[in-house]
Amino acid sequence: MAIKQHAHWTSRWAFLLAAVGSAVGLGNIWKFPYEAGEGGGGAFVLIYLFFVFFIGVPVLITELSLGRRGQSSTVESMLNIIGEEGKPRFWVIIGWFGVIGAFLVLSFYSVIGGWTLAYIVKALGGFTGLGADDIAAQFNEFLANPIELSLWHAAFMALTIFIVARGVNQGLEKAVTFLMPALFSIMVVLVLYAAVAGAFLETLDFLFIPDFSALNAEVILQAMGQSFFSLSLGLGSIMIYGSYLDRKINIGQSALTIAAADSGVALMAGLAIFPIVFAYGLEPSGGPGLLFTTLPIAFGQMPFGPLIGALFFALLAVAAITSSISLLEPVVAYLNETRGIERIRSSIIGGSAIFLLGLLTVLSFNALSGVTFFKGTLFDNLDFLTNNILMPMSGMLMAVFVGWIIKRQSMIEELAMESHFFALWYFLIRFVSPVAIGLVMLELIFDIF
Ligand code: TRP
Repeated sequence: MAIKQHAHWTSRWAFLLAAVGSAVGLGNIWKFPYEAGEGGGGAFVLIYLFFVFFIGVPVLITELSLGRRGQSSTVESMLNIIGEEGKPRFWVIIGWFGVIGAFLVLSFYSVIGGWTLAYIVKALGGFTGLGADDIAAQFNEFLANPIELSLWHAAFMALTIFIVARGVNQGLEKAVTFLMPALFSIMVVLVLYAAVAGAFLETLDFLFIPDFSALNAEVILQAMGQSFFSLSLGLGSIMIYGSYLDRKINIGQSALTIAAADSGVALMAGLAIFPIVFAYGLEPSGGPGLLFTTLPIAFGQMPFGPLIGALFFALLAVAAITSSISLLEPVVAYLNETRGIERIRSSIIGGSAIFLLGLLTVLSFNALSGVTFFKGTLFDNLDFLTNNILMPMSGMLMAVFVGWIIKRQSMIEELAMESHFFALWYFLIRFVSPVAIGLVMLELIFDIF
């Protein structure tokens, strides 16, 4: 067999941008604000931050180091580590979670990514003069049209394939070094706009003064699930990005930086959205429709609305693209490095298969919306399976594998952390993460609390 050349990021900066790009996505800008809104604001934010740093960061460190130690596609990385440590082959399942999980998540992530592209165009056309009902009707009409949804889904997937096909350095890295600064700039413009034109004080109050009466078990568990999704944990993205990481880079520090940037952007998204929500008398607990059905009302009324609206959806699209490439990458790395299929072909084959599966999500909003079982439509079930079963399960398996199965010395070597930081991380990953994740899964699956 030919000697395989596994790519590496050209710099620490490139890696950090890529990892932050993966983490920052629809989860931060679309999901976080409405979950915070439903969870009562400040108290949810506080708990969310707690989970990001005490459960998320330790698992992030774990997943990055598994990738770096394995130096290959997620499946082969796990095989390499298992071989080195002389452990049962069972644990290769963590690698499979990476390939299959990323495949499934991207199939619907790309459909929502398509919505963001469509809404750039709709915003430019202007929501002027439309009332709340018109805007909701427009959104429903959009969802009811499978052809339109499929075309935007195809466009989003094509962009993702195009970037990933060009490889780690020429594709992923080049894209994030251009897109991440763009995302950050748009974000700052929107927060400044919201601060000047919106109900900013009310927002600060809402997001940062915790009202603990809104808290209950469900909100707490929701906050934890959100912290996992937002950090891209458990489904290959972080492991594959870790495999492109140089030995000299400090994983602990990197994980803290990624988590700080990820929660920073989530908070900024809140600061951009809620001032508009409050200023226009909209409901902070608007649910998943918060972005697509309420903000356009405001864009229709404010000065420069079409421009600000288009900027906003462009921001969302950019955030989604830098995440979707991290979901296609584990699939392509598997086809390329484990199956020996050339990279461009791997990207097209993997991406097209994901596109086809995504059509089920497209149809869940129209032709097949009547087909419901278990948690709802096909899309609802796919979302539930990945978010609430595969992701936490994989996180827990990684924590157990690293905390209990492989040698402590291997991790001391891999992480090269100061000894008291190492001790803290090791404690969290052995005891706290598995228990906390176990509780979340029990709740999400059986609704026990
Ligand atoms: N974190 C991204 C977001 O917030 C989504 C994402 C990318 C993801 N890769 C992932 C979620 C891997 C779970 C697992 O939108």
